[in-house]
Amino acid sequence: MKLIYNIGLLVGIQPEGVLRVEGAAQGRTGVLENAWLAIEDGRIMDFGPMPPCHSDSPFCHSERSEESIDAQGGMVMPGFCDSHTHVVYAGSRDGEFLDKINGLSYEEIAARGGGILNSADLLHRTSEDELFAQSMVRVKEMMDKGTVALEIKSGYGLNPEGELKMLRVIDRIKKSIPAAVKSTFLGAHAIGRGYSHEAYVQEVIGLLPRAAEYADFVDVFCDEGFFTVEDTDRILTAAQHLLTPKIHANELAVSGGVQVGVKHQALSVDHLERTTDAEIEALKGTWTMPTMLPGSSFFLGLPYGRAKEFIQAGLGIALASDYNPGSSPCGDMRFVMAQGCIKMRLTPVEAFNAVTLNSAYAMGVSSDYGSITRGKKAALLLTTPGWDLTKLAYQYQTPFIRQVIFGRA
Ligand code: NIG
Ligand code: FE
Repeated sequence: MKLIYNIGLLVGIQPEGVLRVEGAAQGRTGVLENAWLAIEDGRIMDFGPMPPCHSDSPFCHSERSEESIDAQGGMVMPGFCDSHTHVVYAGSRDGEFLDKINGLSYEEIAARGGGILNSADLLHRTSEDELFAQSMVRVKEMMDKGTVALEIKSGYGLNPEGELKMLRVIDRIKKSIPAAVKSTFLGAHAIGRGYSHEAYVQEVIGLLPRAAEYADFVDVFCDEGFFTVEDTDRILTAAQHLLTPKIHANELAVSGGVQVGVKHQALSVDHLERTTDAEIEALKGTWTMPTMLPGSSFFLGLPYGRAKEFIQAGLGIALASDYNPGSSPCGDMRFVMAQGCIKMRLTPVEAFNAVTLNSAYAMGVSSDYGSITRGKKAALLLTTPGWDLTKLAYQYQTPFIRQVIFGRA
């Protein structure tokens, strides 16, 4: 057994069986001041308030078991969960960064052969080992910043060979790191070079059974200039019984992506920079988690999602990084949380639940990750002394992590 003691603030406590929080509950979380937490076989065994010191208490001896950690009054919280990333990619798109600075939009850069197709060209020229090595640098950076569970998408292969190469690399990452990894087949990210629109949709549909050997989810970029609602409907119909959907929707236009995602019981619909009340209504009473990506609003200068209104309508929301070379070259979930507060007017607790429990839900891992709950993985972040959730978002660039624990037995 490993004991963490002298915890100044234990935050993110949820009862067993709570897999997501919605509406007013998104603004609440359990906290315990001056606490201990016991870990066995990588899971949270128990936690409670520090007992008063007396001579035979294990909490009061200076020589506790070697495994024990003195939290020295720091905060302990569940590690960040990042349910939407494209962290496997080759090279960089920093050339396009200059185009962007000079005033070209995301769509204009894509129309010139930049964007996703540029990443696909780079990926085809990069060996599988090199792609793994480059991607692992970013994944390690994310883990150092407190991410304990992440989803990674394909979508820069854009032909069978390239997409399967990406899915194998994601699988290799899954087997190489202590953080949990979920894999998503995003063949329908852009039309691959050399294909007509229709031929490419058919290629994606044909690839689904092989993709399902590696992937947990299927995604479609259902947005203006990429894939239509009809394409999405066809792909998701073909994916039934193979892969659960998670959809890119409503980033560039009010695309209908939310409604087609809900129709196919998508686990999440993501982006949502442009939504009307119809999207909020469509999501009510469903198991689909609306997921917003403030990092891409920041980087591309898009509107921020209407997170507050979603919550006021009784929905839950998740926040994720969207770490990718074109719209969000950053996987820092603490910054995502801070943007939730600063730009989307979420309370620190609402934003915290969005980057932990609800984001875990949005990739199907919230029975094991995302809260302090007996029996869940002890996938935890230990901070230096003096932190609470408000300060974490407010003083958003000050280093705060003392240790990340991944909950491996
Ligand atoms: O989620 N919007 C579509 N896909 C990614 C961006 C991919 C890229 O530009 O490389 C996103 O923002
Ligand atoms: Fe994305």
